[in-house]
Amino acid sequence: MVQEPTTAYKNITAIQIVSTVSNLNSLLLFITASSAPTKYSKARKSMSILREVTLKKHQAVESLPFVQYLLKGNITQEHYVIYLAEMLAIYQALEQLATEIGLLDNLPELPRAEKMQHDLDELAPAYETDLSPSTYRYLDYISELAKSDRADQLFAHIYVRHLGDMYGGKIIARMSPGEGRWYQFDNRSDLVKRFNAQLSTDLAEEALVAFDFFGDIFKDLSQKTDIS
Ligand code: HEM
Repeated sequence: MVQEPTTAYKNITAIQIVSTVSNLNSLLLFITASSAPTKYSKARKSMSILREVTLKKHQAVESLPFVQYLLKGNITQEHYVIYLAEMLAIYQALEQLATEIGLLDNLPELPRAEKMQHDLDELAPAYETDLSPSTYRYLDYISELAKSDRADQLFAHIYVRHLGDMYGGKIIARMSPGEGRWYQFDNRSDLVKRFNAQLSTDLAEEALVAFDFFGDIFKDLSQKTDIS
């Protein structure tokens, strides 16, 4: 049973997409999964102050079947669209909540939702999906967090998604159909520097919570797409 959304993100949970998803698999660039560890280890020099404490959780989500499917280069356009729509709902809510309390003031190029909407419009101009139960739970959670006296902890969630997009996102972009504006960052290295300057070890526990939520969301995505 899908839980009803209770808060301000109501307007984004029904992403209406009507047309058939055409097969653009030919646009995928295939690389072997075995090339990932090399890229991964090369990128490690720029790790953040939260990297070590979140490393185990990162490895845990990274090894989930749906995340591996994203990485393997054979994701169908239909399944990528399901993932993109689910993440779009999350990014719209998270970025709006973070913006409202000024967390993104120094990171104006960071928000991804408009770019993701562009990607979705490119791949499936009118699409309809029910968000998965864990996504609703996550949206409720961040909405409550934003109302609490710990609202600044929302930046831990931005860390898990957006810094992840700036690093591993480059690999996923090569594996995914479409233009992939989601993963295109202007002035990336400067943005990463400013991003890291805004991180503090006080965000560590909340980052672990965020990783757990995304683990659940990826598990629901496996079910939704029948990937095991
Ligand atoms: C198989 C898929 C993935 C690959 C290949 C991948 C790869 C990478 C790479 C190369 C880095 C930079 C290297 C480092 O700091 O150690 C990184 C960092 C990061 N990734 Fe991933 N990632 C994947 C999935 C994910 C997922 C699903 C999430 C979040 C739900 C995520 C969140 C992060 C975060 C937050 C960082 C920043 C680490 C830091 O410096 O603090 N990654 N990832």
